[in-house]
Amino acid sequence: MQLAIVIMAAGKGTRLKSRRPKVLHQVGGRALVEHVIAAAAQVVEPKDIYVVIGHEAEQVRTALAPTGVRFVVQAEQRGTGHAILTAKPEVEDYEDLIVLSGDAPMITTETILTVRDFHLEQRAAMTILTARPADPTGYGRVIRKSAAEPDVVAIVEQKALKAEQQFAPEINSGIYAFRAEALFKHLGQLSTDNAQGEYYLTDMAALLVKAEKRVVALETADAHEVLGANTIAEMMQLDAEMRMRAARALMAEGVTIYRPETSVIDGTVKVGADTIIEPFVQLLGRTVIGSGCRIRSHSVIEDSKIGDDVLIRNGSVISGAQVAKGALIGPYSHLRPESEIGEGAHVGNFVETKKARLGVGAKANHLSYLGDADIGAGTNIGAGTITCNYDGKAKHVTQIGANVFVGSDSTLVAPLAIADGSYIAAGSTITEDVPADALALGRARQTTKPDWAKKMRSRK
Ligand code: UD1
Ligand code: CA
Repeated sequence: MQLAIVIMAAGKGTRLKSRRPKVLHQVGGRALVEHVIAAAAQVVEPKDIYVVIGHEAEQVRTALAPTGVRFVVQAEQRGTGHAILTAKPEVEDYEDLIVLSGDAPMITTETILTVRDFHLEQRAAMTILTARPADPTGYGRVIRKSAAEPDVVAIVEQKALKAEQQFAPEINSGIYAFRAEALFKHLGQLSTDNAQGEYYLTDMAALLVKAEKRVVALETADAHEVLGANTIAEMMQLDAEMRMRAARALMAEGVTIYRPETSVIDGTVKVGADTIIEPFVQLLGRTVIGSGCRIRSHSVIEDSKIGDDVLIRNGSVISGAQVAKGALIGPYSHLRPESEIGEGAHVGNFVETKKARLGVGAKANHLSYLGDADIGAGTNIGAGTITCNYDGKAKHVTQIGANVFVGSDSTLVAPLAIADGSYIAAGSTITEDVPADALALGRARQTTKPDWAKKMRSRK
């Protein structure tokens, strides 16, 4: 077997002060370790990716199961060297290993391939990917034999740096390639004689050098790519960068994004050309937006499909919904899962839909709840209309045909069918089916008492 990738993801992430395991914290709309797996899966098959899990192992395993990777459980987290030792029985028969950190999510497939190729070319026992970030504080430092050569003497962790090494600029990215045979021959020699009392994988550099094996460093062109996320603040910095990357990619495809630094766009989102996105918009998950749309400020759209030429006015919340071409949504509409808004339909302010289908050109412009409803083309839903879809136990469907006029403040008690072309008088409570072209009234008859108010006032 040739190459396996081991992703170390067992640590607790003490510096986060969070109950959630570190590698499941999200940046750019995805868990840290999922970014790493996505990059690795372009290099080897998922079955050749081994994720070392430990802290909250079952939670991490469940979250990552769909990726098809394999898992190694490191029950006690005794350091990065111990993480690899735990994986030994699974990976010792591969020729070479690439080791990645589950908390360094910016790594790209290209960089992994560059490390692999350099490692094989150099016939090294260990290859260390390094970088020179503006501030190296906190990282282990790679000490080379000489500046001109790739050969390494050792990796020195921050806490063990000698006075003259404090400003050593070249950091250990935590990304390595190893010749498996050399690694496992010497891995048992690691000790816990260090500041953390842990088995440091970084000590393999000096151990292999001592055993006269070749240990080399390769500096990455882009120091950004190897940044680790050890604190929430660091994660949010990476998050902002990833979102900006997503926004730039969309702008390159003809999308206009005003003040892109204020928008939150997942890398998975697709948007067509000539769509305009105003400040403070969130586009999340598997959202696809057509071309020629306008998404006004403070709208949040998640896992939804929006057709071409749709106007989404301010403050709309749309999740798991579909909106067809030319529709007009908001301001302040709430489209919940399985809502399907037809071509040219209007959904206005303070209208909530759930599992509701609005036909072509249908309108629900003001203050309504439409749940489990099927509404035909050209139908007008008056202000304040409510579908009473829940009887306390089960949900029921309201069916409204085409070109129906539902008067304002109507209460439609499901299960209910209102046929094409009928009228519902304003203020009605409708509990029985309405045939086509009928008028249904369901309200108390009005009583008017002439001069009543005048008399009352004169009594005072
Ligand atoms: C490590 C390196 C440091 C390097 C930095 C780059 C060591 C000793 N130090 O430090 O030289 O500059 O990465 O980001 O390796 N993990 C396990 N099991 C464990 C311990 C850790 O799986 O027992 C995992 C963590 O979940 C994490 C990764 O290994 O994903 C790195 O561990 P972390 O504690 O973050 O190491 P750093 O202190 O960042
Ligand atoms: Ca780290």
